[in-house]
Amino acid sequence: MKLTAAQLARYKQDGFLVVNDFVDIASCDRLRRRAQQMVHDFDPHGLVSIFSTREQNRLSDDYFLGSGDKVRFFFEEDAFLPNGTLKQSKEKSINKIGHALHELDPVFSEFSRTPDIIQLVSDLGIEQPLLLQSMYIFKQPRIGGEVTCHQDSTFLYTEPQSIAGMWFALEDATVENGCLWAIPGGHKLGLRSRWLRSAEAGMKFEVFDSSAWPEERLVPLEVATGSLILLNGLLPHKSLRNRSAKSRHAYTLHVISADCCYPKDNWLQRPPEMPLRGFEVSSDRS
Ligand code: FE2
Repeated sequence: MKLTAAQLARYKQDGFLVVNDFVDIASCDRLRRRAQQMVHDFDPHGLVSIFSTREQNRLSDDYFLGSGDKVRFFFEEDAFLPNGTLKQSKEKSINKIGHALHELDPVFSEFSRTPDIIQLVSDLGIEQPLLLQSMYIFKQPRIGGEVTCHQDSTFLYTEPQSIAGMWFALEDATVENGCLWAIPGGHKLGLRSRWLRSAEAGMKFEVFDSSAWPEERLVPLEVATGSLILLNGLLPHKSLRNRSAKSRHAYTLHVISADCCYPKDNWLQRPPEMPLRGFEVSSDRS
């Protein structure tokens, strides 16, 4: 077991669990170096033009919605000048990389299938786990944007709810640089909305409960490098803007159970030639 009975009970009660020192510092360094290399190799010119044309919304939506089986780069909202060029270097402008690093990049694939993670997911009782989504989040100094209060199950929905999020701190996360905030026990409030593909193309929200989140109950989850924060898919959480001079890098991985129904109107879809898979190592992709 990677988690004790007390930790599992806490996760069930709070909807989240902080596990300190889950990842060794060398592995954190390795992921950070790999992300740095990926950004270095990334040519932003085509993408900058997507975000700066008159069709910006449609094109940037397509770029996002087609990223479930790819490694794509997303900019901070504040990254652009009015003429569509970047205000500062690409290294300081990227908000995140997503959403199939765990499939397509050898370093992230290996990390996502380490024995500790496999054991952790087993401890959570997720039958036949499938790795659904991965993101490398930069939370850039000064311009790292706010992520408003949400439930991950709004965006990645299964029936019954089976999503567990793993949030690995690759740098210290503090209130100053935009750590996570969560509502303890908030996963018991039920799913408030779904973001789904609409028949007319594009996305829409289906709202089940439009009342405001009880944000006065949010608590900051300040953690040190190497910590893991486990998140129930129904847990309301957010992060504030990073106004500090320090970045706040994190890697996230979302797991579902193959036993659950994964609807075709979720935004993240895989083509038949690249089905979701679990922890088994595949030589043809990584
Ligand atoms: Fe989230």
